Order: sequence, then structure tokens, then C-alpha cells
Amino acid sequence: MSSFMVANHTADKIPLPAANDKIKTGAYLVSAGHCNGCHTQVDRKILDFKNDMYLAGGSLFKRDNFTVNSANITPDSATGIGAWSQEMFLAKFKSYRDPKTYAYAPGRYNTIMPWTILCNLTDGDLKAIYAYLRSIKPVKNKVDKWPQ
Ligand code: HEC
Repeated sequence: MSSFMVANHTADKIPLPAANDKIKTGAYLVSAGHCNGCHTQVDRKILDFKNDMYLAGGSLFKRDNFTVNSANITPDSATGIGAWSQEMFLAKFKSYRDPKTYAYAPGRYNTIMPWTILCNLTDGDLKAIYAYLRSIKPVKNKVDKWPQ
């Protein structure tokens, strides 16, 4: 895992990967979308990401109306998204394009996951993100997304 995908960005130019390099394109989008900012736990002692928990979820966000943990999006099949097919992955994102197709209640959202933004990525971009997420280290970390 190169450091630009995690916490520290250098001043070096990071070129857009070749369109046919799915995994690199996915890595680029995951970096740009700052998925790790929510999906990787922070070690509060060093105020940096826990690199061995890269994208393994379990960061707790408390908001006025709800509490949510970020999901484990590593390819671990029991606790991450290892069991998700590419089709399921795309369908989940795209389901947020139309408020009629998800449980939309004005003023009552219960997640900080930017579904309503990321849903508008193209199929190609979503496939690239999926391919990259399949390529990272699976981490076993069971997350209760909506703890009581
Ligand atoms: C602002 C915080 C935040 C950012 C940024 C974020 N996520 Fe999330 N994500 C969450 C939270 C919290 C959840 C769990 C609640 C939910 O499913 O809405 C989640 C859930 C998910 C899920 C569902 C997994 C499951 O088991 O249901 C996927 C897939 C996902 N995120 C992928 C991504 C990707 C890919 C990116 C970057 C392009 C990203 N997320 C960026 C906070 C975030």
C-alpha cells in the first residue's frame, strides 16, 4: 500500500492512472473520495490512521440524531464486503440515485456515508473502486453499523 492512499499526501504530482488500469484507477478514486478518512480507524495516541486496519471500518460517528460506525469494506468475507459481487456493489451505490428507491425520510438520515454523492459515479468508476477494494488485505473486524 503506498502512502498516498492513506494519510500522507506528498507534494508530488499524482497522475490520473491509465483508464484501462482498473485497480490503479480504483485506488485513485478511493484516495480522492477519502474513503479511508471514515473507513480506517484513527489511533488517537499518534493521531494517525491504524494502517493494519486499512478500510476495516469501526470508526464511530456520533451525531445528534444517530450514531453510526463505518463499515468494514475490506474483502474479508465474514466481516467485510468479500461476499459482495460486483453487481451487488454497483446496485447498492446506484440505489441512492433516486430517493424513491431507498428509505428516504427528510431530515432523518442515519448515516454519514456520502451515498447520495457517490451514487452518481459512472459504472466504470464504481467497477474500478470495486476492483481496488478486492485487491487490498482482508481484515477481520466485525462492525455493528448502528449500535444502540
Ligand atoms: C464521511 C464518512 C464516509 C466516507 C467519506 C465514506 N464512507 Fe463508506 N460508509 C460510512 C459509514 C458510516 C458507513 C456505514 C453506514 C452505511 O452503510 O451507510 C459506510 C458504508 C459503506 C459501504 C457499505 C458496506 C456495508 O457493509 O454495508 C460501502 C460499500 C462503503 N461505505 C464504501 C465507501 C467508499 C468506496 C468510499 C469512498 C469512495 C466511502 N465509503 C467513503 C462512512 C463513509
